[in-house]
Amino acid sequence: MTYAVRRIEPGEWRQLRALRLEALQDSPTAFGTTPADAAALADEIWQQQAEQAASSPTTATFIAVAADGRWVGMAGSAPVEVVPSTFCIQGVYVTPAHRGRAAGLAARLVGVAIAWARDTTDASWLTLGVHEDNERAQAFYRRIGFTETGKVVPCRLNPARNITILGYEKFRPTTAR
Ligand SMILES: CC(C)(COP(=O)(O)OP(=O)(O)OC[C@H]1O[C@@H](n2cnc3c(N)ncnc32)[C@H](O)[C@@H]1OP(=O)(O)O)[C@@H](O)C(=O)NCCC(=O)NCCS
Repeated sequence: MTYAVRRIEPGEWRQLRALRLEALQDSPTAFGTTPADAAALADEIWQQQAEQAASSPTTATFIAVAADGRWVGMAGSAPVEVVPSTFCIQGVYVTPAHRGRAAGLAARLVGVAIAWARDTTDASWLTLGVHEDNERAQAFYRRIGFTETGKVVPCRLNPARNITILGYEKFRPTTAR
């Protein structure tokens, strides 16, 4: 199957909302918000999010479009507000029928988001957070080069569970640690 992977465009807020709501319904513990909270957001919020994801110099969302025009995946790149010089990969999702190493879509989306952070920002570090129980996502991130940082933070939706912070050591190979 062939996919077009590209940054979203400012007016594509309806498609962004549909894919995010699909992601939250598919994987309710994988992200930091609930399907109900996301579904309750006003259109203006989605419009602002699409505008920012399309045009901001520091925050971008990339989407995968299948041959039939349907959006079937996404990945974003954004600064970690509380950690200087650090960006994170966020909102990674692939529609179930398009998952798997053979399709390679998740790796392609995350690769584009990493390259954008590296090529268009001066961030020194790249991380991401993954729920400790999300074994498939953890296996995927480790396969593409993310490694343990030893850090965890409480899950926003259930503070009894942790989000594991992984780092991408290949982000700036020359950055001294
Ligand atoms: C996370 C996600 C984007 C990864 O994309 P994907 O296409 O499923 O990834 P891949 O199939 O290439 O890789 C998944 C790996 O997990 C393995 N895996 C599958 N189910 C697993 C499980 N229950 N436990 C452990 N590993 C598992 C697969 O075998 C594969 O590893 P391999 O290629 O070494 O065999 C996708 O699964 C997804 O959208 N999940 C729902 C949303 C989500 O969790 N997003 C991440 C938020 S941090």
